[in-house]
Amino acid sequence: MSNISVIGAGYVGLSTAACFAELGHNITLIEIDPEKLTALKNGLMPISEPGLNEMWQRNKQEDRINVTNNHMDGLLGAEFAFIAVGTPAASNGKPDLKWVRLAAKNIAEAASGPMVIVIKSTVPIGTAEIIDRIVSYNDRNGHSLPVVSNPEFLREGAAIYDFMHPSRVVIGSSSQEAIDVVSKLYKPLDSPIITCDNRTAEMSKYACNAFLATRISFMNEIALLCDEYSVDIVKVAKIMGLDPRFGSGYLNAGLGWGGSCLPKDLKGLIHMAKSRGFPARLLRAVQQINQQQVYIVIRKLHWLLGNLEGKTIGILGLAFKPNSDDVREARSLLIISLLENEGCRIKAYDPDPTAMQNAGKLKIDVTYCANAYEVAKDSDAIVLVTEWEEFKELDMPAMASMMNQPIIVDGRNLYDPDEMIQAGFLYEGIGRCSQRTQETRIGIVQ
Ligand SMILES: NC(=O)c1ccc[n+]([C@@H]2O[C@H](COP(=O)([O-])OP(=O)(O)OC[C@H]3O[C@@H](n4cnc5c(N)ncnc54)[C@H](O)[C@@H]3O)[C@@H](O)[C@H]2O)c1
Repeated sequence: MSNISVIGAGYVGLSTAACFAELGHNITLIEIDPEKLTALKNGLMPISEPGLNEMWQRNKQEDRINVTNNHMDGLLGAEFAFIAVGTPAASNGKPDLKWVRLAAKNIAEAASGPMVIVIKSTVPIGTAEIIDRIVSYNDRNGHSLPVVSNPEFLREGAAIYDFMHPSRVVIGSSSQEAIDVVSKLYKPLDSPIITCDNRTAEMSKYACNAFLATRISFMNEIALLCDEYSVDIVKVAKIMGLDPRFGSGYLNAGLGWGGSCLPKDLKGLIHMAKSRGFPARLLRAVQQINQQQVYIVIRKLHWLLGNLEGKTIGILGLAFKPNSDDVREARSLLIISLLENEGCRIKAYDPDPTAMQNAGKLKIDVTYCANAYEVAKDSDAIVLVTEWEEFKELDMPAMASMMNQPIIVDGRNLYDPDEMIQAGFLYEGIGRCSQRTQETRIGIVQ
């Protein structure tokens, strides 16, 4: 079993630490944020992620996990140092590498022997070479510190499952020895291991995220046409998804993509293209379509309610996706800010209490509710933003009867339009043959 240090206790770092501990390794997690560190030291998990807390507590009890904010202590005797720190986008889209650079410097200064540096953070092409230079400059003892690029493909909300059951593991390095030892760590997971150079590994992560974003924006463009031509995008997506050339994932039309990864990684790739003189027309279009999606909700509310000033709008779901507490770049926040500009009163509920706390920290003018029924009570319309399972189970006739006006804009196409109409709602999905289009068509027929 190996001694592994993981730098950064975010979604990726905590999942990596817990899963490698579960595989029997000795883990030291290094985190500099005092709030997160205190929580972890007090046995509390600072994020919600299915299965993470149980796995963490089990391995902590068995003494396979330590937590510290001290890089010297945390890297003492480590054979591997995983970098899992944030790489947020700067205002021009350029990925900000200050945390990665700092982590590399910390590692080089603390190295007490040979160690493999593994970059899990999503970093622009060429970063491994930068890390290599930082490490060579700061390493005073001349240890062997090869750099491996090992991008992470886990999804928030399914991070533990994804880490333990990866569709592939990508390991890129110029050192075959480093590739071999990192491959050994992943061997028990029984998944394909693709080995390559650092740059291929770095690019593969950006290409995957940009492709996922492209699929969703593509479906959202088709959904616009579906609304206009009275076609249901959900049925179209089902037909498309059964084609083995496509596969069924990421074909859901809706409010578009948010979260801490797709928006930032698309911006990063566009920045990389721009810095080499390429216009990245397709990637920009993908981004623009995504930006427009939230305005579709406002337009639909206008069709259904007219002037929105003084109206009470209920928001179901704040997290950027179900089973997560993460509200970074969540669509809910954009919609809330647009509704605020329209002069609406806003009520909101998310099944994850931490997601509500995280939204609360942003000081938006929202009344937080204890459940979905409280949101519905006296609202003029509801917008379903996050497709939590809990929202599928709601008593919809009861919800409709509590509202000022039984209007719902289903931003994730979670519900069956006919069932919602039967429950008493005026229903609008995204690309599901809009109520407005139907009325126009009836008008034309008459
Ligand atoms: N969140 C995801 O679903 C996901 C999936 C795949 C890849 N990634 C990538 O993984 C990286 C991490 O993402 P995340 O969502 O886990 O980030 P995060 O912001 O949730 O966590 C990063 C943590 O690193 C800590 N940190 C920063 N510098 C440090 C240092 N020098 N020493 C110790 N701790 C330090 C921060 O305090 C923070 O707690 C990003 O590059 C991201 O793009 C994220």
